[in-house]
Amino acid sequence: NKIGFIFDLDGVIVDTAKYHYLAWKKLANELGFDFTDEQNELFKGVSRKRCLEILLDIGKVKATQEQFDAWMVEKNEDYLRYIENMDASEILPDVTKVLKYLKSKEVPIALGSASKNAKPILEKVGLLPYFDAIVDGNSVTKAKPDPEVFLIAARKLGVRAKDCVVFEDAVAGIEAANNAEMTSIGIGDARVLSGADYNFKDFTEIDLSFFENLMNTK
Ligand code: BG6
Ligand code: MG
Repeated sequence: NKIGFIFDLDGVIVDTAKYHYLAWKKLANELGFDFTDEQNELFKGVSRKRCLEILLDIGKVKATQEQFDAWMVEKNEDYLRYIENMDASEILPDVTKVLKYLKSKEVPIALGSASKNAKPILEKVGLLPYFDAIVDGNSVTKAKPDPEVFLIAARKLGVRAKDCVVFEDAVAGIEAANNAEMTSIGIGDARVLSGADYNFKDFTEIDLSFFENLMNTK
């Protein structure tokens, strides 16, 4: 069968989690409370709206709809400022090598991200040409762990869900891949991502023969 590869963006292709963190921390501080690195773990793979709900819970802040909407905008404007000067140097180790390899094997590649900023980020770091399909926060109605984002990606690639392989750094993302009955690969801490079919700290740990073997089993 034809195999397809689906990559999450934040934390898999680029380390944007730190910029999301800075923007949420700035807002928290303005609202009079702190937001720790540890709490930021809960925000990985989670939509912007859900993140703000969790943040306000942490700070025990009540908001009117108007305030809520204004803080969503403020956080994103700050985030966009932090990523303004992003370039290829912020691509995580060996990601480009893996994308090049998969392209050389002519396997279709999709992005499956919760972020509404996914496309401009891929453009900034110069990786947009590698992707045959982009599914992001603008194209989904249900957030990870719902499998929607990955199922749309599979459909766009013309690959059966069962024959897709997903790279994810978030617990919600691994769950989404598993819910889609795809092969899930955790990138990051194996103890956190224990639900994944395979675990790697980062792409430098993955031997190209691993992809070869995956392609042979589909
Ligand atoms: C995910 C990130 O990829 O995108 C989350 O892991 C983030 O932390 C989410 O909240 C939404 O991103 P954006 O760019 O639409 O605010
Ligand atoms: Mg991620």
